[in-house]
Amino acid sequence: MDQNARAPQIETLPDAAALARRAFEIIAEIGRGAVATRGRFTVALSGGSTPAAVYRLLAESGAANGAGLATAQTFFFLGDERLVPYEHPESNFRMVRETLMATGVFPDGNVFPVPTQDDQHPEHRTPHQIAELYSASLASFFGLPINGPAPPVFDLVLLGLGDDGHTASLFPGKPALDERREWVTWSTPGVLPPPVDRVTFTFPVLNAARRALFLVGGEKKAETVRRILRDNPDPRDAPAAGVRPSAGAVTWLLDEAAASKL
Ligand code: 6PG
Repeated sequence: MDQNARAPQIETLPDAAALARRAFEIIAEIGRGAVATRGRFTVALSGGSTPAAVYRLLAESGAANGAGLATAQTFFFLGDERLVPYEHPESNFRMVRETLMATGVFPDGNVFPVPTQDDQHPEHRTPHQIAELYSASLASFFGLPINGPAPPVFDLVLLGLGDDGHTASLFPGKPALDERREWVTWSTPGVLPPPVDRVTFTFPVLNAARRALFLVGGEKKAETVRRILRDNPDPRDAPAAGVRPSAGAVTWLLDEAAASKL
């Protein structure tokens, strides 16, 4: 984490719907620039519930194409995943399939799920094996040596915030916070549900991103938002505070309830 990282931008929107619309606008803007500059747009998706409304907006073909988003050149990985089968209600990939992928506006092959247990992978894999496999997917897609010193550079990393200060599946006090070589690691659950093991991008990948976009809504998170944006807490206690891309920018999109203690 770069202590000299730029200060985060903060935008407050009236409510969840406005937050989703603003997030869509920002994503489309970054996507247009990425494709124009590098011929593709690479995105790490956040799990949880907040981003679902944004993914639905992206899936509305009129919206994505109307916003000039080159959907065939847009590629999605998951910044973290619960170690459950794809059909499980707690699967982030299931949420992505039911939102972002629901209309087919993005080719299915452009979305790279974490290889948790599913029909194609009936064999049991340990969390570490799954993390290794996903690191290998990143290495292959970005044309890099796996877990090498130059992590993959995403154009955009979407992130949520747990009221315990976690982001992705980097939970307070967990060993995953200290991982500086592996791009994807695993973690036992934090204090918030669901109580299942996870795989997660590590700080080297999150902090290599060109842009990180936090999507945070609701009064429940207001104190955590205040603490992270005002108190500069130790990332071991509030992992979201550890997202400080060395060359990238961080934007926090908040609804008024989540911003109410700033
Ligand atoms: C996950 C997410 C996690 C999420 C936060 C906020 O797999 O749960 O990646 O980091 O973003 O817990 O979740 P909500 O958006 O549901 O509040």
